[in-house]
Amino acid sequence: MISVSNNFLRLGVLSALVGMTLGVWMGANQDFVLRPVHAHINLLGFASMMLFGLFYRAFPAAGRGWLPLAHFGLSVLGFLILMPSLALMLLQKPLFLPAMIASEIMLVASMFLFVVIVFMATMKKEPATV
Ligand code: HEM
Repeated sequence: MISVSNNFLRLGVLSALVGMTLGVWMGANQDFVLRPVHAHINLLGFASMMLFGLFYRAFPAAGRGWLPLAHFGLSVLGFLILMPSLALMLLQKPLFLPAMIASEIMLVASMFLFVVIVFMATMKKEPATV
C-alpha cells in the first residue's frame, strides 16, 4: 500500500534540495528573476509537503482511503506543473499559461481536501500519536 506520509516526506526533502540549489545559483549569478520559483519550491514543496507528511504520521488513520491519495496526487501534480510554468512565465515565455491555471486549481483543490482530512481526523475521539 502506498504510504502517503513517506511519499510526502520524500518529495519534501527533494524539493528542499532543488529549491536551495536554485537559491545558491541565483546568488552566485546575481540573477533573481526566478526568486518566486525558489520561494515556492521551498514553501510549497519543502515546507508544505514535510508538514503533510508529518501530519499523516501523527494521524495514521487519516492516511487511509482515497481522500489522502487524492490529496497527494493533486498536490504533487499541481506542484510539478506550476513550478516550470511559473519559471517560463517569469522568463517572459508564458507557454503553459492554461496549464499553470489548471495547476493552481489543483493545488487549491488539494488544500480543500486537506482541510476536510484534518477536520475529520481532529474530530475523532482517537488521540493523535504526538
Ligand atoms: C541554501 C539555501 C538557500 C539559499 C542559498 C537561498 C537564496 C535566496 C536568494 C538569493 C534569494 C533572493 C534574495 C533577494 O532577492 O535579494 C532568496 C529569496 C527567498 N527565499 Fe531563499 N534561499 C535558501 C533557502 C530558502 C528556504 C529553505 C526557504 C523557505 C523554506 C526560502 C525562501 C525564500 C523566500 C520566501 C524568498 C523571497 C522570494 C521573493 O521575494 O520573491 N529560501 N533566497
